[in-house]
Amino acid sequence: MREPSAARLRRIPPYLFQELDDLKARTGGDLIDLGEGSPDQPAPKAISAALTRALKDTENHRYPSYPGKLSARAAVAAWYRRRFRVELDPETEVTMLLGSKEGVAHLIWGTCGPGDTVAVSDPGYPVYQNQSRLCGAAPIPVPLEEKTDFLPDLDWLSRIAPRIKLLCLNFPGNPTAAVAPIEFYRAVVALAERHGFFVINDNVYSELYFGKVKPPSILEVPGAKERCVEFHSLSKTFNMAGWRIGMAVGNAQLIKALLKIKQNTDSGPFGAIQDAAIFALQNGAKFAAANRAMYKRRRNAFCGELVRHGWGVALPDATFYVWTRVPAGYDTAPAGESVSLNFSRKMLSNCRVMCAPGTGFGQYGEGFVRFALVAPEQRLKEAAKRIGRWLT
Ligand SMILES: Cc1ncc(COP(=O)(O)O)c(C=O)c1O
Repeated sequence: MREPSAARLRRIPPYLFQELDDLKARTGGDLIDLGEGSPDQPAPKAISAALTRALKDTENHRYPSYPGKLSARAAVAAWYRRRFRVELDPETEVTMLLGSKEGVAHLIWGTCGPGDTVAVSDPGYPVYQNQSRLCGAAPIPVPLEEKTDFLPDLDWLSRIAPRIKLLCLNFPGNPTAAVAPIEFYRAVVALAERHGFFVINDNVYSELYFGKVKPPSILEVPGAKERCVEFHSLSKTFNMAGWRIGMAVGNAQLIKALLKIKQNTDSGPFGAIQDAAIFALQNGAKFAAANRAMYKRRRNAFCGELVRHGWGVALPDATFYVWTRVPAGYDTAPAGESVSLNFSRKMLSNCRVMCAPGTGFGQYGEGFVRFALVAPEQRLKEAAKRIGRWLT
C-alpha cells in the first residue's frame, strides 16, 4: 500500500509527550496533571453571557468575514492603545484568529518556504519549529539559556541575522516564563531593520504578570510595525482556550500574507465569539486582574512548598509556568536518554504528578522541567508535598 501520510510529515520529530501520555493512562489513581498549559477555570460569567446574547443575532450564524468583524478589530486596536499606547489601523493592521496557534502557523506558511531560514526560540512553543519544517523552511534554534535570563544572546543573534527570513520570539515565554524588557525589543527591531528579516512576537501571556512592570509589546518600539507582527489570545487572559479566539496585529503586508493562507484554509472565528471577545476586551480588566491574583497565589503556594522541601525553584514573574532545572541528584541519565524525560517519568510513577519534560520544547530544554499551574491551590500544594516527600 502507498504511504498514506505526506512525506513532509516525516520532517516533524516524534511527539515527545506521547510516552508520558501513555504512562499517565497506565498510572491511574489520584494523578495531578501539571503537564499541559490548559487553564482549569471557566471563562468569566459575564463573557459567557455576552456570547449567549450574541447567539440571538442571525448574522452571527452566517459565514464570518475572513479578517474578522471590523467592530472586533476596532476593539483590539482600542485595547492596544489603552494597554501599550500603540496605534493600529483596524482595517489593515489587525486580524481576528481562531486562536493564536493557527495564526502563528499560517503566518509562517504565508512568509516562508523552501530556501528560507526561520530562527525559533529554543526551548519554545513547538509550533514555530514544526510549522517551519512543514512548510519546507529550515528552522535554526535560538538558545534561551539561564545565563542570559532566558533571552536570546544578542551577539549570537546578530551573527545569524544575515541568514534568516523570520525570527519567532515569545515573551513572556512558554516554557521559560521569561519577560523581555523593551530594550531587548529595541535591539531586535534594529537588527531586523539592518538585516531585513521579519519578526513574530507571540505575546499571548502579556496579561499574566505578577510584578508591577507590565510586559511590553514589541510594537512599542518606533518603526517595529515595518517588520513585526504580534500575536495575542483570549485563551489565557480570560480562560477562553476552548473558544478559539485570538488576534494578530502589526505589519499590514505580513497580515495580508497570513490572511491569504487563512482564506484558503478556514472561514474565521464564529461571529458570536467575536462579539463576546469585544465585550471581554472592553470590560475584562477586572477579570484579568483576578486571574493574575489567582495564579500568583498558586505560584507562591506551589513554589513555596517545593522550596521548603529543598528544591530551590525560582518564582516566575509571568505566565502560569514554573520552569526549573531538575533537582541535584536527578541531573544525569544513561547515554542517549534525556535527563528531563527520565525525571518526569520517575516523578510520575513515584508521586503521581505529571509535568512537561524540558526537551519537549527543544534541545536547550534538556535538564529542565515545566509545571503548569492549572490546578487549584490545594492540589498544587499537595503535588509539591508529594514531590518534596519523594525527593527528601
Ligand atoms: C506561546 C504560546 N503561543 C500560542 C499558544 C496558543 O494559544 P491559542 O489558544 O491562542 O491558540 C500557546 C498555548 O499554549 C502558547 O503557549
